Amino acid sequence: AVLAGGLGIRMGNTEVPKQFLPLGSKPVIVHTIEKFLLFEEINEILVLVPEAWVNYSMDIINKNISIEKSSKITVLTGGSTRNETIMKAVEYILENYGIEDDDFIITHDAVRPFVSYRIIKENIEYVEEFGATDTVIPAVDTIVISKDANVISEIPIRDHMFIGQTPQSFKIELLIKAYSRLTEEQKSILSDAAKIFVLNDLPVKIVSGEEYNIKITTQYDLLLANAILERAIKND
Ligand code: CTP
Repeated sequence: AVLAGGLGIRMGNTEVPKQFLPLGSKPVIVHTIEKFLLFEEINEILVLVPEAWVNYSMDIINKNISIEKSSKITVLTGGSTRNETIMKAVEYILENYGIEDDDFIITHDAVRPFVSYRIIKENIEYVEEFGATDTVIPAVDTIVISKDANVISEIPIRDHMFIGQTPQSFKIELLIKAYSRLTEEQKSILSDAAKIFVLNDLPVKIVSGEEYNIKITTQYDLLLANAILERAIKND
């Protein structure tokens, strides 16, 4: 599932949400979808976007991806939070496939177009073995915890700190069970889908992320993404 249900507010004023902005010769989201099209073991690619952008998304997919490949892609309406968007994908899978024990979902931010083949491959391998995965990189800077943004509460050991990226992958049956066991309060403060597993004491296997697997959040990130792409084209 390619998560593109956000509006990209931190990107500032743009004509289209950041996932649709051009990066090189095609929209960011097309780069991202293409990474997942490389995998035969992925049955269907769900692209979840804000309701007002469903038709627009279908258009850019049809313009940029061959009919043969795009037959695997389904555009759906996302939810009002990132986790709700994930749950919309899960609902679609339940309605259209039912659940077999080992079925899994790979969730990925539409705005991380540089996800590598290796990262996706390891998500598939590890989710089958462990039930859940999260792609992370070691924290290079010291992380400082402050509960009031005024005075430091704690400085955790840096070797224990990692920065979350995506994909995050989950066995669907486990995800549904774990989510249903959370209290309403836990659901409301849930910042991250992997936390659904952590709160239920279920293992989440770490996949090593990459520095290049950036999330395009601000204008600065878009500049960086263009530089990364140009370098990749030169090295080709
Ligand atoms: N996302 C989603 N559904 C939501 C909110 C976010 O699928 N309701 C997706 C975004 O489209 C993005 C990814 O989750 O691909 C990471 O989220 P973020 O970078 O925070 O995106 P936005 O919510 O669009 O950004 P902002 O907070 O600046 O508005």
